[in-house]
Amino acid sequence: MRCVVSVLDVCVSHLFLQYSVVVDCGSSHTQFYVYKWEADKENGTAIITEASSCYADDHGISTYVNNPDLAGESLKECLTKAEAVIPPSKQASSPIYLGATAGMRLLRDVDVNSSRAIMQSVRNALSDSAFRFVNATSQARIIDGDEEGAYGWISVNYIAGKFGHFSPLEYFFQQSTVGALDLGGASTQITYVPANDVTLPAEYSKKLMLYGAEYDVYTHSFSCYGLKEAHRRFLAHLVQANNYSTSIVNPCAPSGNVTSLNFTSIFKAPCCHSDNTTAKNLTFHFSGSSDPDKCQTQVEQLFLFNKSCPSCSFNNVYQPALNGEFMAFSGFYYIVKDLNLTVNSAKFPLDEFENAAKQYCQKPWNEVSHLPNVSAAQAVQLCFNAQHMSTLLVKGYDFNETQWESLSFQDKIEGADLGWTVGFMLNTSNSLPAEYPRQRINTALFVLLLLLFIGFLLLSIGFILHSRRVARRNNAEYSRLSSSYGSI
Ligand SMILES: *[C@@H]1O[C@H](CO)[C@@H](O)[C@H](O)[C@H]1NC(C)=O
Ligand SMILES: *[C@@H]1O[C@H](CO)[C@@H](O)[C@H](O)[C@H]1NC(C)=O
Ligand SMILES: *[C@@H]1O[C@H](CO)[C@@H](O)[C@H](O)[C@H]1NC(C)=O
Ligand SMILES: *[C@@H]1O[C@H](CO)[C@@H](O)[C@H](O)[C@H]1NC(C)=O
Ligand SMILES: *[C@@H]1O[C@H](CO)[C@@H](O)[C@H](O)[C@H]1NC(C)=O
Ligand SMILES: *[C@@H]1O[C@H](CO)[C@@H](O)[C@H](O)[C@H]1NC(C)=O
Ligand SMILES: *[C@@H]1O[C@H](CO)[C@@H](O)[C@H](O)[C@H]1NC(C)=O
Ligand SMILES: *[C@@H]1O[C@H](CO)[C@@H](O)[C@H](O)[C@H]1NC(C)=O
Ligand SMILES: *[C@@H]1O[C@H](CO)[C@@H](O)[C@H](O)[C@H]1NC(C)=O
Ligand SMILES: *[C@@H]1O[C@H](CO)[C@@H](O)[C@H](O)[C@H]1NC(C)=O
Ligand SMILES: *[C@@H]1O[C@H](CO)[C@@H](O)[C@H](O)[C@H]1NC(C)=O
Ligand SMILES: *[C@@H]1O[C@H](CO)[C@@H](O)[C@H](O)[C@H]1NC(C)=O
Repeated sequence: MRCVVSVLDVCVSHLFLQYSVVVDCGSSHTQFYVYKWEADKENGTAIITEASSCYADDHGISTYVNNPDLAGESLKECLTKAEAVIPPSKQASSPIYLGATAGMRLLRDVDVNSSRAIMQSVRNALSDSAFRFVNATSQARIIDGDEEGAYGWISVNYIAGKFGHFSPLEYFFQQSTVGALDLGGASTQITYVPANDVTLPAEYSKKLMLYGAEYDVYTHSFSCYGLKEAHRRFLAHLVQANNYSTSIVNPCAPSGNVTSLNFTSIFKAPCCHSDNTTAKNLTFHFSGSSDPDKCQTQVEQLFLFNKSCPSCSFNNVYQPALNGEFMAFSGFYYIVKDLNLTVNSAKFPLDEFENAAKQYCQKPWNEVSHLPNVSAAQAVQLCFNAQHMSTLLVKGYDFNETQWESLSFQDKIEGADLGWTVGFMLNTSNSLPAEYPRQRINTALFVLLLLLFIGFLLLSIGFILHSRRVARRNNAEYSRLSSSYGSI
């Protein structure tokens, strides 16, 4: 009997399973996610799970400037794989979404025609797919930096179960949320709910109505501070500090390594710029010197720290005091993983991170050229990345030893990659309810409310009976007194 019931259960849940595909077009690669959930729990109570993911391309779509058609082409293989994951009967009803981030935002700034051609190319590829793609402008678009931050925050809190899956306790005591720290190839975002007494300036605030609660979220996206662009800016800074000499010492690279790069691959608009036309044909040779202290000094010059702007992170950008727990993912996670810091836990003390970074930065090339699961290019850049991350988090955002304890580094929760994709999907499909869907009060909550009601009922009956008894006694006493007075 139980067997029949569970088979039925499985059948019914398969009948109501829903799917969607989200394509993350980052600045350095493209990644597909297939999500699934139960359709009858659409309004927020659903537990969305990642059914599969697919690494589409080693280039960001923004690199197809000279051949936009290849941008759409680069999606084909993962589209086919997604079609293999989603049952044929569900494909036409499963929506597909595509969000392009900082790589495309930057391209749009310098070459709007190319960015349009590339978006057209990827939209064509999506409309040729088996999935539901009815509104190209909302389902496939370039998302802004602060949207990216907000969607990342929604994703993390959704996946971590901070809203939506309400049990009676959660219904009465709204859970505190987790801040989100994202580090991509071209930009980086910080998003969190500040302390109650903080009033955010409008340009840094996003008001989100979710599940009956209003969240006033601080978010900021730093363009050109993602790992790839920050590294390019660092090399450009070294070139300029050395008066365009072609032989340059890089204190953040391992000694024994020489990396050669030409002018155009360093001075790429809009993050890097040079007026020196006589240097256009040069190739620069960067020799590593494994020098952590000089590396730190040089990296810090990419940030503007202003003492006259006390509630600023850097570059005169306002930031309220940090508040609550934080989750750092994507680039932040890859850096600490490559430093072997996440082997035992997602949290570790700040000095452990700084020691690991310093030790790594002292190593020569022959010690880091063959690390397991770290490519040569990553090994050369890892010291820079760690230093950039340290400057950003500690000097920029103000994670001191104490605040650092509330910071955890994670790649996935419950098997789902952390990023902005879930929040983007929920928002674009209008399935983020502003209110608690009333019809979905669950049984436990109903029973609790019923018990409370009965409790109050019994209490008030008891109170009425009690007060009537007291009143009767008082009456009796009064009449006894009055009768004795009356006898005077
Ligand atoms: C979800 O909410 C929307 C609007 O709030 C409503 O139109 C829709 O019917 C709801 N869906 C379910 C399954 O309750
Ligand atoms: C962009 O395209 C428009 C027309 O399609 C053209 O007039 C304009 O010159 C182009 N801009 C660039 C920078 O190529
Ligand atoms: C597509 O979506 C956008 C944003 O939701 C909306 O403004 C627009 O009217 C939609 N277009 C069509 C053709 O439905
Ligand atoms: C670059 O040139 C300036 C002045 O032209 C000079 O003061 C400085 O020492 C030079 N720097 C290097 C690294 O050669
Ligand atoms: C510069 O280097 C890039 C990448 O290695 C290459 O594609 C490009 O052709 C080079 N440009 C020049 C002017 O040499
Ligand atoms: C750069 O190279 C091109 C082609 O070789 C040449 O025409 C141009 O004059 C060179 N520019 C400089 C500043 O040397
Ligand atoms: C421009 O680059 C040349 C090397 O090609 C260098 O000698 C010169 O000092 C640079 N000019 C400036 C203003 O940095
Ligand atoms: C530093 O901050 C103050 C106050 O916000 C501002 O007036 C000043 O221009 C800033 N300095 C720099 C170098 O940006
Ligand atoms: C990380 O651990 C691996 C295997 O234990 C080791 O080979 C590698 O050298 C370590 N990496 C660093 C950066 O210490
Ligand atoms: C390298 O990656 C593989 C596959 O992801 C994994 O099984 C292995 O444990 C990793 N090795 C180290 C030293 O991290
Ligand atoms: C230096 O590192 C680069 C990766 O950035 C690698 O391709 C190159 O072979 C290394 N060069 C030397 C001389 O070791
Ligand atoms: C860290 O910062 C918090 C608030 O920003 C502050 O209360 C605390 O004293 C600082 N701790 C240390 C060790 O500096």
